[in-house]
Amino acid sequence: DCCLGTSATAPASSGAAAAAASSAMPAGVALPGCELLRLLGEGSFGTVILVRERQTGNLYAVKIMSKAQLASEDQLANIALERQVLREAGPHPFIVECAAGFQTENAVVLVLEYLPGGDFYDLLRSKGLLSEEQAQFYLAEVVVGIGELHAHKFVLRDLKLENILLDADGHVRLTDFGLAGKVNTVGDTSITDLSGTAIYQAPEILSGKGHGTPVDWWALGILAFIMMTGKPPFGGSDRAELYAAIEKAEIDLESNPKAQGWDPITKDFIQGLLTKNPAKRLGSGGVQDVISHPFFRGIDWEALLRMELEPPI
Ligand code: ADE
Repeated sequence: DCCLGTSATAPASSGAAAAAASSAMPAGVALPGCELLRLLGEGSFGTVILVRERQTGNLYAVKIMSKAQLASEDQLANIALERQVLREAGPHPFIVECAAGFQTENAVVLVLEYLPGGDFYDLLRSKGLLSEEQAQFYLAEVVVGIGELHAHKFVLRDLKLENILLDADGHVRLTDFGLAGKVNTVGDTSITDLSGTAIYQAPEILSGKGHGTPVDWWALGILAFIMMTGKPPFGGSDRAELYAAIEKAEIDLESNPKAQGWDPITKDFIQGLLTKNPAKRLGSGGVQDVISHPFFRGIDWEALLRMELEPPI
């Protein structure tokens, strides 16, 4: 499927970058007809390499997961589910597009559209904190992406800055569904394993009570907090302290200097998402709950979905 490829000029590819990309390829895996340009990153299970298809010049982000490095059957199942998420939930404006997926003897390979805008972690590092208005735009695109995944009965479970990529125009694309889970009914709490990135974990994941779609709304609250303050709301000097804070500590926006000038609506939005009880959390009634929160007042959701709203950065 060549229409997916970006034929924009590739970022400078030095001999050294290409060598690094080659050495990141698992042994015995080849991508015939493609030139390896550079290493883009490491996902939940595997390596992402920027490649150029020689014949078309199209660029792709190819995610390669070595079977030798897959420790268990569970991980193979995760990859199958990631492919299923991409196939069933896409194509969608705010979800990374998958051009192809295949297996070789040694690896499982996903050919993804290349997103040249980098990830949100880098955006925050280079631009600094977002204003409430800037955060509103990006969070709105993320919310619509999450809503689409939930509509297909998938729980993302690993929403974080690093998994929000930006296209050439600065629109959001969610990626990395290696930890996604499937629920039987939206809001079902059928998933019980512990996974995902520590600071984004919802309390019900930590307590092992079973979890469902509300974990993604909790993670959205953590994300919103980080976008506008630069720091996660819960911390600790080790994992035990962090988990205790996530389960017990109330966030204090009143005495947080970064939140001083915030509209009370912004505070209510974050408090709503970071509600410990998943049944009372903003979003527990579905994506419409989140979309209807006044934090998103003024957003034209139809235009947003058509990607007609201009990214603020
Ligand atoms: N890093 C991981 N996946 C990527 C993608 N699809 N485009 C650009 N960088 C990436």
